[in-house]
Amino acid sequence: MSILRTKSIEQSLADAEEPEHQLKKSLSALDLIVFGVGVVIGAGIFTLTGRAANQTAGPAIVLSFVLAAVCCALAAMCYAEFASTVPVSGSAYTFSYSSLGEIFAWIIGWDLLLEMVLGASVVAQGWSSYLMVFLGNIGIDVPEAIGAGGTVDLLSMGLIIVLGILITIGIKESMRVNLVLVSIKLFIVLFVIVAGIGFVNSANYHPFIPPAQATDTTTGLTQPLIQALLGHTPSAFGVGGIFAGAALVFFAYIGFDVVATTAEETKNPQRSLPIGIIGSLIICTVLYCAVSIVVTGMVPYDKLDPEAALANAFTVHGEDWMATLISAGAVAGLTTVVLTLMIGASRVVFAMSRDNLLPRGLARVHPTFRTPYVITAAITVVCALVAGLTPVGVLEEMVNVGTLSAFLLVSIGIIILRRTRPDLPRAFRVPWVPVLPIVSALICLWLMINLSVETWLRFLVWLVLGFGIYFFYSRSHSRVGDTEVEDKVAS
Ligand code: ALA
Repeated sequence: MSILRTKSIEQSLADAEEPEHQLKKSLSALDLIVFGVGVVIGAGIFTLTGRAANQTAGPAIVLSFVLAAVCCALAAMCYAEFASTVPVSGSAYTFSYSSLGEIFAWIIGWDLLLEMVLGASVVAQGWSSYLMVFLGNIGIDVPEAIGAGGTVDLLSMGLIIVLGILITIGIKESMRVNLVLVSIKLFIVLFVIVAGIGFVNSANYHPFIPPAQATDTTTGLTQPLIQALLGHTPSAFGVGGIFAGAALVFFAYIGFDVVATTAEETKNPQRSLPIGIIGSLIICTVLYCAVSIVVTGMVPYDKLDPEAALANAFTVHGEDWMATLISAGAVAGLTTVVLTLMIGASRVVFAMSRDNLLPRGLARVHPTFRTPYVITAAITVVCALVAGLTPVGVLEEMVNVGTLSAFLLVSIGIIILRRTRPDLPRAFRVPWVPVLPIVSALICLWLMINLSVETWLRFLVWLVLGFGIYFFYSRSHSRVGDTEVEDKVAS
């Protein structure tokens, strides 16, 4: 048995047609754009914009958003090519099974789980903080012990359980709720842009790139890996600050890749997936740039609130009702992020258990709802426990490292699949292969080594756990492994 055994694309497509594992095909390209925008716009724009402008990049934060968008656009093109070639559930996991081999596929699936399960939990905690702010503004006090940062965050646990039930009832139903919430979120983001323009003072844009300052040098586990390895100390502001800001606001773009997990539930996936992935990324980039220009024009960057800049920029101008409206919109907005990340996580586990890399019984589809209900229940319990019991602000970077490692491997996978299967029909093709995927992989690597040593250690623990499960369970149960044995016996 080769360590790099791969699953043929034809086999992946055939598995998706098995009746007991078949998902309902109901999503259009527009549904996917809504899905993408729903998962991408979230805690990132509502909180990180302020923090990054205030502490790292100043008004030039808009350039950080552009840089992070370039990194994501390169990865998005690689995702789009894969999704249009292998339109089955499981996103980067399935793509890499057919190009890089089973062990890489396993690790990517494992990384995607990290991204989506922790992403859903972290954003649920953010949701619970915004809900407390909103309820406080309208005069309802929630005991701190049951909110974000409390003993047990019952609010975020409650949200996850309700969403878990919704996902089980049906993807189309979830999409309807999603559509309403995404519309509210888009309205709020547009409201910030349009209402905020009136309060912009052009003096706040000077200096546009504030002079570089040395940051408080962090040491030990909290220092970025690049500093521990190369002694490179990141500075705040200046041109370096624009790059550091990009590593920070990268979180705001996470999620467009989740669109690829819905491939099997999409009508005409070869056409719709590239439109969904690239379309949602373009919309989010335009909105992020506009919001960051307006907010840094409303309040001097050094006075921006690092926690809730969007709402507080209006409080500074005496518009309290607008601030309350924005917190309400954030609550609606963050709900959709949690919902979509949970759907994504369940679809990745679905694909992995259909291949027997995880117990196959997990992939059972509900006879009436035609959704993977066993997996959804498991994901719901794990997310609820993580969101309810872990301290706030500890796991965010883990979401970034999970996502970036998947982007990196997908970019490499494009080059390999072009060589190994040039014959496959590709509805979308990345231009300038291999240059563009190589640049994409290098940018991801650079952003990864800007994350802290602590994050890397946690990531390594996660990978060791993943390899352990792979070598003790998945490798011997794998369907592709079974086929190899059958082929040998037959020959
Ligand atoms: N991009 C998502 C957010 O900002 C994860 O909340």
